Amino acid sequence: MSDHLENTYVWDPVVRVLHWALVISFATAWGLGKFGPNQMTLHFYAGYTVAGIVVLRVLWGLFGFHTAKFVNFVRGPKQVISYAKTLPLKEPSRSFGHNPVGALFVVGVLVVLAMQIASGLLADPEDYINVGPLAQYVSASTARKALSLHEPLSTLLLLMVVAHIGAIFWYKKRKGENLVKPMVTGYADLPQSKTAGE
Ligand code: HEM
Ligand code: HEM
Repeated sequence: MSDHLENTYVWDPVVRVLHWALVISFATAWGLGKFGPNQMTLHFYAGYTVAGIVVLRVLWGLFGFHTAKFVNFVRGPKQVISYAKTLPLKEPSRSFGHNPVGALFVVGVLVVLAMQIASGLLADPEDYINVGPLAQYVSASTARKALSLHEPLSTLLLLMVVAHIGAIFWYKKRKGENLVKPMVTGYADLPQSKTAGE
């Protein structure tokens, strides 16, 4: 158990830069959607930035660095459940990359972000100003449906982000593990047995 720890390279710069860019652009898109001016041009730009980040992250998840690739961290229900049982334990998980529960969040948030962007692109609020650029290519009822999804999806995303930040706090307070530092520097303290196997 007390395997000695080594400073190990976990998150490549693409993952790190995309993550912190997503934090900024998501917060901007959300804030401008809720509290911005009536004319939503800036909201649209922030939304396109989020869209670009999501596309790049999916490509990096298919063709990128080891820990960024979906095949290396997305796991089936058995592993998710057995990992979930370790969450209350007062010991660090020291995962090499995403753990199986974190993986669910990553995939879930990328899917809901894509739905949020698609609903925004197709939305037509019938005000002749804030019309999503793709609304003209679909029927009026589809554009209305997209509009009616956009707000509830934004609330769902907010809840997911709150849970995400709550989980990071949990790891710090309960498990004594700082997950933010590796997302900034790229390096985590890991037992070498973890990086060789899992
Ligand atoms: C992740 C990206 C995005 C987030 C987090 C987001 C969030 C939001 C939020 C919170 C609102 C206010 C909803 C309300 O309280 O009624 C809103 C409104 C809106 N958003 Fe987005 N949005 C995103 C992307 C986009 C994109 C890409 C477009 C289109 C290019 C878009 C088009 C719109 C429109 C047209 C409205 C106004 C709806 C209305 O008039 O009721 N959004 N968005
Ligand atoms: C200040 C707020 C935030 C902090 C401190 C934070 C922190 C972190 C940390 C430490 C990780 C790595 C987790 C691990 O070790 O497995 C992570 C991953 C992730 N976070 Fe956040 N996060 C924040 C906000 C957000 C927001 C707003 C979003 C999306 C809307 C988001 C989406 C993600 C995604 C998609 C990943 C996976 C990274 C990847 O594999 O590319 N985070 N976050």
